[in-house]
Amino acid sequence: MAAIESVLKENRVFEPSEAFQSTANVSGMAAYNALCEKANQDYEGFWGDLAQEMITWKKPFTQVLDESNAPFYKWFADGDLNISYNCLDRHLADKANKTAIIYEKDDGSSENITYQQLYERVCQFANGLKSLGVGKGDRVIIYMPMVPDAVVAMQACARIGAIHSVVFGGFSAGAVKDRVQDAAAKIIITANESVRGGKSAPLKVTVDEALKDGDCPSIEKVIVFARTDKEVAFDAARDIWWHDLIANQASECEPEWMNAEDTLFVLYTSGSTGKPKGVQHSIAGYLLGAMLSLKWVFDHKPDDVFWCTADVGWITGHTYIAYGPLAWGATQIVFEGVPTYPNAGRFWEGVEKHKVTTFYTAPTAIRSLIKLGADLPNQYDLSSLRLLGSVGEPINPEAWMWYYETVGRSECPIVDTWWQTETGSNMIAPLPGAVAIKPGSCTLPLPGIMVDIVDESGASVDQSNGGFLVIKRPFPSLLRTVWGDDERFKSTYFPEELGGNLYLAGDSAHRDENGYVWIMGRIDDVLNVSGHRLGTMEIESALVANPLVAEAAVVGKPHDVKGEAVVAFVILKGDRPEGEDAKRIAQELKSWVAHEIGKIAQPDDIRFGDNLPKTRSGKIMRRLLRTLAKGEEITADTSTLENPQVLEQLKQSV
Ligand code: WT7
Repeated sequence: MAAIESVLKENRVFEPSEAFQSTANVSGMAAYNALCEKANQDYEGFWGDLAQEMITWKKPFTQVLDESNAPFYKWFADGDLNISYNCLDRHLADKANKTAIIYEKDDGSSENITYQQLYERVCQFANGLKSLGVGKGDRVIIYMPMVPDAVVAMQACARIGAIHSVVFGGFSAGAVKDRVQDAAAKIIITANESVRGGKSAPLKVTVDEALKDGDCPSIEKVIVFARTDKEVAFDAARDIWWHDLIANQASECEPEWMNAEDTLFVLYTSGSTGKPKGVQHSIAGYLLGAMLSLKWVFDHKPDDVFWCTADVGWITGHTYIAYGPLAWGATQIVFEGVPTYPNAGRFWEGVEKHKVTTFYTAPTAIRSLIKLGADLPNQYDLSSLRLLGSVGEPINPEAWMWYYETVGRSECPIVDTWWQTETGSNMIAPLPGAVAIKPGSCTLPLPGIMVDIVDESGASVDQSNGGFLVIKRPFPSLLRTVWGDDERFKSTYFPEELGGNLYLAGDSAHRDENGYVWIMGRIDDVLNVSGHRLGTMEIESALVANPLVAEAAVVGKPHDVKGEAVVAFVILKGDRPEGEDAKRIAQELKSWVAHEIGKIAQPDDIRFGDNLPKTRSGKIMRRLLRTLAKGEEITADTSTLENPQVLEQLKQSV
């Protein structure tokens, strides 16, 4: 990959400025090293102290880490708390009138919501959920636009002990159905439609499609938020408007006191198989990870205006919108729109308008904005910014330098944060007042996160050699299991081949002479398209479900904005199509995938062949397909191929 190539040649280093260091929450390498040292000396004491300091407990814990049933680790297991209490109630004494959320609407208007108002909205909605019989342990699907009410819905579930599972609003009916069924959810919260980039998406229609033919018998009610005045079909027995549900509800709701290890949410993510897995997080450990990373990595201060541009459908939106900033009593932006609407200055206009101090986005967004107007940030007053963040994929040094110089005026540190849905919060990222940054590296692990790079046997590799990225000790915000599938949890994340006690992240990485980590990419069949995880098997399953398709193989190819693009090699049941036929069928299959999974999974490039390149034993040679996808010449030995003649066919994009 070109990006990886340039990352490998990178050698610039940016030390924290004195100005930044002088106010930083963790200032200087000595302070960083001291934290690491404390974690090394007394791992449980380190985490226990932090959990006591940051979380308000209903009943304090007496045990920090329980490893008796590894790898099913428990943290703070005899403590009781409520995360919504930690995000709302505890701020009311001194921050009731502080702005919690600045709702930046798609149309450019905005609305402020104070902590008192947010508290009342959450309580009312929580009472509404209770009136429908939702309680502790019930699963609730949230399929909402990026509006503050999505956060309200998540917080309300957490308040009454229900487990939420947010499904990104861009996913299809099929994806909603799969998740409802896997989680056996009782309720879906949705909206009549979403509005984004000036376009609307029919969320309620999609939910109706997911629920049709009695496919989801676990669902009792569908709550519909009226984002616009658009009318939608209503099933009087099943559907209820959000505003009707809360109409007579009290604006106080006693939180359900939960055990630290009770499940907070399940969030589905792609893996190596055709079926997304439900990553299951528990309450206290997750909250600690969210709070700690905001303090250390984002150097959070009470006067900050925090803007994470993610959608709550992804883990970034969970941790750095729905929970972390609220747990700190921060002011944050909830952005409904897209970076390019009405123009590519949208982010910078928002920064100027709301005096944003801390801005967190993805490399793919940065690359698309550079393309649309590298000079645009200069038209805005961005002097409020003091810290920039990046997440989702390695950031190529060119994009990094632009972000640093043009957006950050060469004054704001960039925190390149490596983490995953499974880790719940940042794992490897600079503490910006301490760790010098290098474009393209996520630098050093947070104190207490014991990262290593190992070979196939689980042994540490020599410095500068690449290998599998692992985490050697359990940490509080790690997923607890895969929903309903403990075996999959064990074999995916704590594989026996590596000894069974290392958390295998699924990324390859190497370290440089300063111990800095450089992420190289996934080791499994997971693609990273615009910072989103997509399983190749998932897309293949969708393709072969089409009546025309006999067989399909999906790989990624480098893409200058998306990072990776989806390429599908397809074998039809009939003859290999040519000319106009091929074009028409390719278009049909693209729409099919968008309909089966969501638009983000739609292949950019479809190629038809009489067969896939296979070894004599019938194994698809994916390495060859990746070479073909990139349009490179095949230099590998193809003599073991059963059918080398298909390579010529598969070179051609439709
Ligand atoms: C995968 C996790 C974490 C929230 C967003 C994605 C890649 C993520 C970085 C980074 C290099 C990164 C990894 C990881 N990734 N952040 N800063 N540098 N790679 O969460 O969907 O669970 O995906 O995204 O490959 O394994 P996710």
